[in-house]
Amino acid sequence: MKTLFNNKINETYINQTVTLHGWVSRVRNLGGLIFIDLRDRSGLIQLVVNPDNKNYEIANSLKSEYVIKVTGKVVKRENANDKIETGSIEVIVDELNVLNTSLEVPFQITDDVTALEETRLKYRYLDIRRPYISNKLVLRHKITMAIRNYLDSLNFLEVETPILCKSTPEGARDYLVPSRIFNGKFFALPQSPQIYKQLLMVGGIERYFQIAKCFRDEDLRADRQPEFTQVDVEMSFVNEDDVITLGENLVAQVFKEVKGIDIELPLQRMKYNDAINLYGSDKPDLRFEMVINDISDVFSNTNVEFLKSTLNEGGIINAIVAKNLADKYSRKEIDKLTEYVKTYRASGLAYIKYGEEISGSLVKSLNEAELNNIKETLNVENNDIVFIISGNKKVVKTALGALRCKIASDNNLIKAHDYKLLWVTDFPSFEWSEEENRFMACHHPFTSPKDEDVDKLLTDKANCYSKAYDIVINGYEAGGGSIRIHDGSVQEKMFEALELTPQDIEEKFGFFVDALKYGTPPHGGFALGLDRLTMLLTETENIRDVIAFPKTASSNDLMSEAPNVVDEYQLKELGIEIGGKKDE
Ligand code: AMO
Repeated sequence: MKTLFNNKINETYINQTVTLHGWVSRVRNLGGLIFIDLRDRSGLIQLVVNPDNKNYEIANSLKSEYVIKVTGKVVKRENANDKIETGSIEVIVDELNVLNTSLEVPFQITDDVTALEETRLKYRYLDIRRPYISNKLVLRHKITMAIRNYLDSLNFLEVETPILCKSTPEGARDYLVPSRIFNGKFFALPQSPQIYKQLLMVGGIERYFQIAKCFRDEDLRADRQPEFTQVDVEMSFVNEDDVITLGENLVAQVFKEVKGIDIELPLQRMKYNDAINLYGSDKPDLRFEMVINDISDVFSNTNVEFLKSTLNEGGIINAIVAKNLADKYSRKEIDKLTEYVKTYRASGLAYIKYGEEISGSLVKSLNEAELNNIKETLNVENNDIVFIISGNKKVVKTALGALRCKIASDNNLIKAHDYKLLWVTDFPSFEWSEEENRFMACHHPFTSPKDEDVDKLLTDKANCYSKAYDIVINGYEAGGGSIRIHDGSVQEKMFEALELTPQDIEEKFGFFVDALKYGTPPHGGFALGLDRLTMLLTETENIRDVIAFPKTASSNDLMSEAPNVVDEYQLKELGIEIGGKKDE
């Protein structure tokens, strides 16, 4: 077995003979001396082959990505290269063996690679050789180890739960696996181990965790994959504070151990309604301020038609102030922002620039009192620009929430390497679905309502809140969880509130509802998105960067070409006939 990694070699090795194994990253023949950059998982090291070396010809024939083994003496370098960890030394080669050759690679294995991501995903095994990717896998491993060690030290048991399951209610579409033995029946891949971890609590395990694969067939975004990993946790005999404290201690431990960053605890907690009102999002990015202000009152007697009708129809008028940025926003730039907020269904974007003069889209229509009132309410100063959106609450908050993030990112208002963590708590139990025209579970149907709201489950759904919490880091939902319902009668009430018929309940979760009747302890937990946590700690916005073999945005694997057709006999055994194309 190879015993030495490149990055271990430093000046203490000078004059020692070492044996190294790795890949040829670059070869240069500088008029006699051959320089080889040897790469292994830990980094690069420079090898030198002298013209009188018995293996000189072999060295001269080396090409990129050949696999070699060398033995040689470590010496100090005349001109140190401070770009690599081993830059102060080099190895004068004595023995050189080629362990394998390589075809010409389709792209350069370097961090400043220019190849398209598609090409890199097709040859992912080569992409992983790039430190940009492999270092992220190293960090992911460190995160996982820190989590395992921390939870183990607190008596949590790592328990595996099934992958071939019955559909779990996390709200996305299931991946289905047809059964050969029970033709016409299907397993679902778990969207999360939710039901199983609760059953482990019924089973008396008391403290469970799992680094769990989850599968959700949903529309993908930059921070979503169809197959992703959760750090899944469940505990018995706990309340909300206990779970939140454990969750934040765990995350802080990871930041400390993996990045040496001290996170100040306890984390800030913000109620869901405050997060929406102030930041237009249930995952507010607190690395910059720019809160959303309700300025509806300023317009209670306004003559501006569209504002008047917004208020008459029960809508709101909200604003954000981009401090000291008025001169950065030309008409053209503002037109672009207007198009941007329209993608969030806002009907338009009004603005007022405050400077020597007041200018902007609304200035002519508003009277002086209104303009001054806005200025005072929002503490506006010279060169500030106020953006205003009116309309129904959901649209206004969402659009301004997205706009504040865009303005911050466009103007570099976010400090590098900054982390802002918080808990968002007190989620509503239900959210209204326009599509389904009914209230749906905001989290999942096993989330406990607040004690004071249990009685409202059937009568006042819009005002029921739950014991649910999300941990938010830099505007990402890094994890979430809740205290569960452990009382069978409350669970039944919840199902009824979700308009599930007794037959639905029996079919979908009969086994689970039965289990709750056998002495279920009070319990709760959470799941962290391991991929997202790794994205945050490696400072990438692309979830594929932190997964060894990711899927593309259209949920396929360019390397293996999965999903793919299967043999006719396999389908036959499964009792499946491929019909025409599905209806769009
Ligand atoms: P939830 O659905 O909020 O909760 O998922 C927990 C965390 O998993 C991550 N996540 C994802 N990461 C990548 N790609 C995806 N498609 C994806 N979907 C979710 C997020 C999210 O916060 N069973 C509950 C947890 C519980 O109640 O204990 C659950 O799955 O970071």
